[in-house]
Amino acid sequence: MNQRPVIIDTDPGIDDALAIAIALFAEELDVRLITTVAGNVSLENVTGNALRLLRFFEKEVPVAKGAAQPLIAEFVDASNVHGKTGMEGYDFPEPDMSLLLEEHAVNAMRRVIMESPEPITLVTIAALTNIALLFAMYPEVKRNIREIVMMGGSASRGNKGVMSEFNVGTDPEAAQVVFQSGVPIVMAGLDVGLKALVLPEDSEEIKNMGKTGDMAWHLFRRYRGGSFQTGLKMYDSCAIAYLLCPELFTVEETYVEVELRGSLTAGCTVVDLKNYLHKTPNAKVCTDIDGEKFRVWFRQALAKCI
Ligand code: RIB
Ligand code: CA
Repeated sequence: MNQRPVIIDTDPGIDDALAIAIALFAEELDVRLITTVAGNVSLENVTGNALRLLRFFEKEVPVAKGAAQPLIAEFVDASNVHGKTGMEGYDFPEPDMSLLLEEHAVNAMRRVIMESPEPITLVTIAALTNIALLFAMYPEVKRNIREIVMMGGSASRGNKGVMSEFNVGTDPEAAQVVFQSGVPIVMAGLDVGLKALVLPEDSEEIKNMGKTGDMAWHLFRRYRGGSFQTGLKMYDSCAIAYLLCPELFTVEETYVEVELRGSLTAGCTVVDLKNYLHKTPNAKVCTDIDGEKFRVWFRQALAKCI
């Protein structure tokens, strides 16, 4: 099988953890590098969590630390959702520090992208600070990036603020740099993330899926992105699902811009589905997802993580 080379930029994070697991065990993907950025919790914690996950899954993927805070915005974490450590609820093994590169994430991404004989897909499931820095420092990388598949933004309401989704709202300026970069973008925002749910019957099935299922179930108990009863929101898995099972999604090409100055709307993605602005589309926006088929896909994908 011709694997798609990817770099995952992440802030684990309980939903990140499941998305990373699925990506690591997907035969369609070749995870060349994992880069970390402050978001759900601090840079130190998200980096340690990425290394813990790699030890848990016995996968040897290099990890590089990135930005410890947003470009301009004040850093506000989501430890209320993911716990103080960012992956509370399960007693993970010690992080595999041998996988941690000395390089900054931006330099590691540039090296991996420019060395690759085929274009790299950037899978971003966190704030876009590292990606904005990458484009500012090394714009030449754009010619060897196939696309950015991001979990971020929303064509409707927010989950960090009234109108702002957490990844875009954490670093709106970085998100604007990325949306205006000219690199092909797929935006899997809250319009699909809020419907990508693990329901109670799924949790029960997952609980009995061996070591990985036991780990996931323990994380789910602590995760506050929804609940066992109402459904646990697997936001970040939407980005991986788009790569592995794009037919789950309804997608519309449109123009997206990030509001930076609104007193009530700063950090929101303005998704111009009706083309009021008459601007050239810069993103494929996932406007809907088949929630039932997502549940089946998610359980099947997680069952492969052994
Ligand atoms: O809005 C959801 C996003 O914010 C996810 O990436 C989640 O992990 C948090 O980072
Ligand atoms: Ca995340």
